[in-house]
Amino acid sequence: MKTRITELFGIQHPIIQGGMHYVGFAEMAAAVSNAGGLGIITGLTQRTPELLAKEIARCREMTDKPFGVNLTFLPALTQPDYPGYIKAIIEGGVKAVETAGNNPQKWMPILKENGIKVIHKCTSVRHSLKAEQIGCDAVSVDGFECGGHPGEDDIPNFILLPRAADELKIPFVASGGMADGRSLVAALAMGAEGMNMGTRFIATKEAPVHENVKKAIVAASELDTRLVMRPLRNTERVLKNAAVDRLLEKEKALGPKLQFQDIIEEVAGVYPKIMTDGDMEAGAWSCGMVVGLINDIPTCKELIDRIMKEADDIITKRLARFA
Ligand SMILES: Cc1cc2nc3c(=O)[nH]c(=O)nc-3n(C[C@H](O)[C@H](O)[C@H](O)COP(=O)(O)O)c2cc1C
Repeated sequence: MKTRITELFGIQHPIIQGGMHYVGFAEMAAAVSNAGGLGIITGLTQRTPELLAKEIARCREMTDKPFGVNLTFLPALTQPDYPGYIKAIIEGGVKAVETAGNNPQKWMPILKENGIKVIHKCTSVRHSLKAEQIGCDAVSVDGFECGGHPGEDDIPNFILLPRAADELKIPFVASGGMADGRSLVAALAMGAEGMNMGTRFIATKEAPVHENVKKAIVAASELDTRLVMRPLRNTERVLKNAAVDRLLEKEKALGPKLQFQDIIEEVAGVYPKIMTDGDMEAGAWSCGMVVGLINDIPTCKELIDRIMKEADDIITKRLARFA
């Protein structure tokens, strides 16, 4: 399947693995890229630019296919060493960057001068248009269903994707709630040129996370995610657990007085405990509503091949009946 996204990134299938904190290590990115998609290393999971350079080199040893790096621009008080991370990306010969969070405008000249394709993750049409205007090559349109940060507009992909298609000139992928061949065909029908998946890729054999995380995803239904940190305008969709219940109780009790300090125990530094140690009650971790569609733990190749086969069957058989 050729789309503007497969052409842009030089990949076989129009499927991207979104950056994921403490999941997007070299093993994850290489497995997705080897399966014909675009795997992405999560930049900030590496504590320093030097460690990111090593992670890129490790990924390069595991695949000769294109892969990317996610750079999440946080509203943090002490900013990570973004120039250092970008230097590691350039020197590592990486040609695709997924940006997310704040507007990446400041970093566009250096990325473009080095021939790097930039796909910016946006949760609204206005941010997507801004990304187009500042020179991004593509957008990942992330609907309300998504795991992680869905923004504050709450527009699901059935509305967001066709709205994006009506306004954007650059290609975009559908992100949030994508799991299988049905997702891909629906995304294409709404004007996207591929799809980005987060949660689905965690439940794969190669995902370098504790088995407990994979089991929790398979066990959960679409009713099991919650939105946290809305009072802080930093909304995150997470899987419900004891820590999330506690966090929501605090939100309820404190109302608009809630401050980040009040919930630090439930959200700060919890990813290694969950993803690496498998302590599933350690805190709030990002997870999409799509968990309701995830019932197995295939290899990335099995997953991507299955998606492409299912998409082909839907287009050539099921939908052909209606033509
Ligand atoms: C565990 C987890 C961690 C994530 N961490 C990041 C991150 O660090 N940076 C980022 O841009 N997106 C992050 N995301 C969002 C994903 O890249 C992707 O946009 C999202 O998962 C898509 O929705 P889906 O889970 O329904 O597929 C994360 C998602 C999950 C599930």
